[in-house]
Amino acid sequence: MALTVSEIKRINKLLLAWYKANARPLKIRERNKPYEVLIVEVMAQQTQIARVDELATRFLKRFPTLRALAGAETADVLEAWRGLGYNRRALLLHRAAEAAHAAGGLPATHEELERLPGIGSYTARAVAAIASGGREIPVDVNIARVVQRLVGGPRLTAKPLQAAANAFGAELGDGEAGRWAQAAMDLASSVCRASAPDCSSCPLKSVCASAGRVAASEKKGRSAPVRFGSTARWLRGRLLDELRDAGRGGVIIRGARGEHPAPAVAATIRRLCDEGLAERVATATYRLPRRKKEID
Ligand code: ADE
Repeated sequence: MALTVSEIKRINKLLLAWYKANARPLKIRERNKPYEVLIVEVMAQQTQIARVDELATRFLKRFPTLRALAGAETADVLEAWRGLGYNRRALLLHRAAEAAHAAGGLPATHEELERLPGIGSYTARAVAAIASGGREIPVDVNIARVVQRLVGGPRLTAKPLQAAANAFGAELGDGEAGRWAQAAMDLASSVCRASAPDCSSCPLKSVCASAGRVAASEKKGRSAPVRFGSTARWLRGRLLDELRDAGRGGVIIRGARGEHPAPAVAATIRRLCDEGLAERVATATYRLPRRKKEID
């Protein structure tokens, strides 16, 4: 059932008041330039926010502006990404920076941001809301959970969920959507958790359609844990770290690595080259891509 405007306004008020008293003390929250928020939000996908808080400072020291990142060699961007994993995100971020710089700077609206390579719905709305006064609420998996529980009813797909989130944005004041989104993220991580929600201490319990009714239905059974060392992601990360350590001269990549036999290693380094994360400099010798782009 759709919430009334007065219910939405009440939720907004309660959530922002809770955030004022309970916001996680993150350094990234002191950053509000679009470029800096973009870096943080891309890093925050699939990386714990406490780690992002630490590593964003290092990355932004190395590439303090859009221009600096757009003009960088891919190898240097990948080096600065060390410790974050999912290295394709760094590559896409670099491409987005190149495209935005070539077009005169980062745009302010989520529609324009979403046209940049690799920038999806969540990232575009997060940057627009946090840095440029955008009113659409960015919906990641955590905000989706909060919004879905607030509105209740059957499980919403992406579009109606975005519309439900935007109904909150529509009743906020100028510049408040970014705060609302970050408040919802903090609520999602501390109270409105996926499998163990703590409805009794939720600031929204008096207005939430799911208050006290979510714990049992969403608990998932645990499947057997996969050892990280056996995964393709481990091998990719290991090879990327070898390339980082090697520098310009490159490194010989041949033979087995950990639990992965030589053919798997050969296939993975070929794949990394195809994806633009590595380049071959001689027989079995590879390095991070040293493609220099001229920029204005
Ligand atoms: N996860 C993604 N973006 C975040 C932010 N700005 N604050 C806290 N957690 C986040």
